[in-house]
Amino acid sequence: MGGQLEGTTAVVTGASSGIGAATARALVAEGATVALLARRRDRLEELAAELGGRAAVYEVDVTDEAGVADTMSAVARDLGAIDVLVNDAGYGSMVPALEADIAEWRTMVDVNVNGVLLTTHAALPHLLDAARGPRGIADVVTISSVAGRKVASPGAGVYAATKHAVNAFSEALRQELGGRHVRVGLVEPGLVRSEMTEHSGAAADAEERLELGLMEPEDIADAVVYMVTRPRRAAVNEMLVRPTEQTR
Ligand SMILES: NC(=O)c1ccc[n+]([C@@H]2O[C@H](COP(=O)([O-])OP(=O)(O)OC[C@H]3O[C@@H](n4cnc5c(N)ncnc54)[C@H](OP(=O)(O)O)[C@@H]3O)[C@@H](O)[C@H]2O)c1
Repeated sequence: MGGQLEGTTAVVTGASSGIGAATARALVAEGATVALLARRRDRLEELAAELGGRAAVYEVDVTDEAGVADTMSAVARDLGAIDVLVNDAGYGSMVPALEADIAEWRTMVDVNVNGVLLTTHAALPHLLDAARGPRGIADVVTISSVAGRKVASPGAGVYAATKHAVNAFSEALRQELGGRHVRVGLVEPGLVRSEMTEHSGAAADAEERLELGLMEPEDIADAVVYMVTRPRRAAVNEMLVRPTEQTR
């Protein structure tokens, strides 16, 4: 195949759809072997079949501490290393506080915050090993959101709170790990066509408002690949990527 990530192993959470699936495809196209993580095993197996011998399937719920820890150990054992972690798994439910379903709030906090914390914590020893290896660098990329930078609309409160939280965690981790040659970065998308935005109606709404439409998952996958293929001396810490016509 021949690419800038030849010989590396990447873990992608949320690989069963949308941005995660597109990112897994893009990393494989660049030469990586990818561990595909999500709960829907059938979807992961379909993607793994498409990617040939370059992908392995791990069914896991990112909110399950023991499950995540076991999965990271299994990936490192099966695939030999973890050079890149992409924290993509996420959940969004945009409802004003007065009408809120508390279970939905809990799910967002669990998946978007605890999921990122648990996954990152479990991957870190392996990322540090990789950074000490021949490649000399490792990467954590978290898919945050424009909502990690600002609250763009009412109803987005808890989703934005979860994304602000991972932005804070990511920045602290960046300061902790740069000296050990683990780069830590954030990709902050605006509206992207995916199951999340198709189900909520946000994709259809954006299609109506924006002449050029919303972004495709591949646009965000491109940003992730750019981040993890920089020379060792350069770390892209943050990329905010919006549809051209998205204003907020
Ligand atoms: N679409 C947008 O406009 C947009 C904008 C900004 C940021 N984002 C962020 O981008 C990321 C990906 O979203 P997407 O738009 O691609 O949505 P999506 O197509 O709905 O994908 C969400 C992914 O997360 C996984 N997931 C959810 N809960 C999980 C859990 N408990 N354990 C393991 N995996 C879980 C899902 O897999 P399973 O259901 O198979 O477990 C799925 O693969 C999210 O973090 C989202 O917040 C999206």
